[in-house]
Amino acid sequence: MELSKNEKFPSDIKMAPSEKEVESKEESSPRIPRQTKTSTARVLSHEDLERLSGDQALVSDFKHMKLEKEAQKNWDLFYKRNTTNFFKDRHWTTREFEELKACREFESQRLVLLEAGCGVGNCIFPLLEDDLRIFIYACDFSPRAVEFVKQNPLYCPERCCAFQCDLTKDDLRGNVPEGSVDVVTLIFVLSAIHPDKMKLALQNISRVLKPGGIVLFRDYGLYDHAMLRFKAGSKLGENFYVRQDGTRSYFFSKECLAELFEESGFQSVANDYVFRETVNKKEGLCVPRVFLQSKFTKPDQSQSS
Ligand SMILES: C[S@@+](CC[C@H](N)C(=O)[O-])C[C@H]1O[C@@H](n2cnc3c(N)ncnc32)[C@H](O)[C@@H]1O
Repeated sequence: MELSKNEKFPSDIKMAPSEKEVESKEESSPRIPRQTKTSTARVLSHEDLERLSGDQALVSDFKHMKLEKEAQKNWDLFYKRNTTNFFKDRHWTTREFEELKACREFESQRLVLLEAGCGVGNCIFPLLEDDLRIFIYACDFSPRAVEFVKQNPLYCPERCCAFQCDLTKDDLRGNVPEGSVDVVTLIFVLSAIHPDKMKLALQNISRVLKPGGIVLFRDYGLYDHAMLRFKAGSKLGENFYVRQDGTRSYFFSKECLAELFEESGFQSVANDYVFRETVNKKEGLCVPRVFLQSKFTKPDQSQSS
């Protein structure tokens, strides 16, 4: 989603499909995709490495601060422009994260889930359709996104509670009882948060998660195609970029992600790169995508003693 439809691509990838096309296809399919999980980062060609290391100029401190101040506004404008039409429903979550089905202690247990940074609900509505024994808290800092969730015909207050919340500022316990959530999904959200504030968001999430509960994570991985095609002048910091519309994206290495979660009190359960190639049949192009797919638990102190 890095590029808008009208934005120009760098010259070497002129024929690449629009990011909207890449992202929505990539992240919607319930079928088994051609993807590889690996513990090692993508190895870049010499050419790509040179281009990336040549792009060292950072945006000014003033612009950097302005983007941080206007992060919420920029995402809200994103939803004003795109309404519910940008991302497709994410039907792959139960395939990739068996915990969504299997982490009940007993068959009839109602699973409590928090979708942190829910957007317009592309993750939650397939889950609600799929599983009757689930209650979902869903929050986002864009008021428009939250309103779209509430207007969805599948939204019903008995099974879902959507609310506005800045994960880096607003205590989730204002809407979600402390230690009450079995599973948190964090899907393409942490990358949108300033690296200096990621820990605040994780600590906030930890407070509402049950001891022994789990965070299911998928987000942009280091050297993803989207990272390589940012134009000069888009770099905010190491592995951190700004898109034309003012929304930002961080690209995670597995080491950096594990450190972030561990310093926020979690334990690593799984942490792998997912390599995929999105094929644009019409144009005969392969686009290499890199995601990081991971699981972290909140330690259950009572079980360790
Ligand atoms: C790429 S969208 C992903 C939405 C959803 N998780 C999905 O899978 O479709 C990222 C979302 O994170 C939200 N977001 C970014 N920073 C946030 C913050 N500090 N607090 C709450 N939500 C945030 C944005 O408003 C946006 O809806």
